[in-house]
Amino acid sequence: MQEAVANLVQNCAQVQRGESVLLLNEQDVMDADVVGLIGEAISAAGATPRVMWEPSPERGAAIPGELLESIASSDKVIAHFPLSPSALQESLGPDPGVVVVQSMFRTKQHFVSEHARYHWGMANAIYERFQNELFAEGRKWRFASPGGTEISGVIDALSERARQLDDNLAPFCRSFNSPAYIPVASKGCEGRAVVEYTGGFRRIPLDHPPTLVIEDNIIVRVEGPPEAKRWVDEYSQVLDERSERLGTPDANKVDSWHGGLHPTAESIGGDIGLVGNAGTKMAHFHVGPDGAHIAAQWGDLDMWLDDEPVMANGRYAAGFDDPKLREAARQFGLSHWR
Ligand SMILES: [Fe+2]
Repeated sequence: MQEAVANLVQNCAQVQRGESVLLLNEQDVMDADVVGLIGEAISAAGATPRVMWEPSPERGAAIPGELLESIASSDKVIAHFPLSPSALQESLGPDPGVVVVQSMFRTKQHFVSEHARYHWGMANAIYERFQNELFAEGRKWRFASPGGTEISGVIDALSERARQLDDNLAPFCRSFNSPAYIPVASKGCEGRAVVEYTGGFRRIPLDHPPTLVIEDNIIVRVEGPPEAKRWVDEYSQVLDERSERLGTPDANKVDSWHGGLHPTAESIGGDIGLVGNAGTKMAHFHVGPDGAHIAAQWGDLDMWLDDEPVMANGRYAAGFDDPKLREAARQFGLSHWR
């Protein structure tokens, strides 16, 4: 636990001597012992912690003025509390002189996870390398999985889902838990994607997975053996319903795909493994002009970018040896990053 707390306070929030650090916590949800440890680590760094407990906000509720004042008058905020970066920016402006660290972790179990203990600076460097450089427009991508997925395409310029998510970023906010990476826009996708898990973040394995058939970047039909009939019917219905409702030929186009890039985050179903979809063992599509989720997750993927192996069986491929990431690891004093 101490390891994760130090990672949060030193590597992510980068708390400095003399700073005032607000610990904003979701009442009855965030673990009080962990907050105590975070407070101690802040004091040990020569900074002053101030602890606030607030009831869970209603979805979409405005941030109370009093809370905004407390945030704006701090040097750093560590929020184990849901805060919308765009709402913060709307109230405080783009440069309010405070760094807000957000985290989806809440329990002791979260804080002893591989996800929470892995060096935050390195995780951040990996995400930035992929999002800003490696997932570049025009590059070819290909996925395969032991479950039978075999799809490929080219990275496009714009993803509707990425645009939606981009609306909720603010330059002074950062996340302690690694999220799913920025959705990668797809064009020219062809092939067969086997839906190995359903239920979104609950990641429920399907014993008889259906297969999405993709032609010219559009999911055209769902196939499967007779045993998979229930799921073939279910996903066919999702696609039919979308076609009917949106009434456009691109109702079921592949908008984008994403998953996690965190090298050690747990990828198990349920609460802890799915914090932020950080793990490399998961990925899914967003579809249509609305960039919607269709609850279709792939399992242990192989990923290639321009024929270079990046992932193999849901982990970084042994042959993927990125010089910039090797250098970042060296700067963080790590002997290896994956
Ligand atoms: Fe997504």
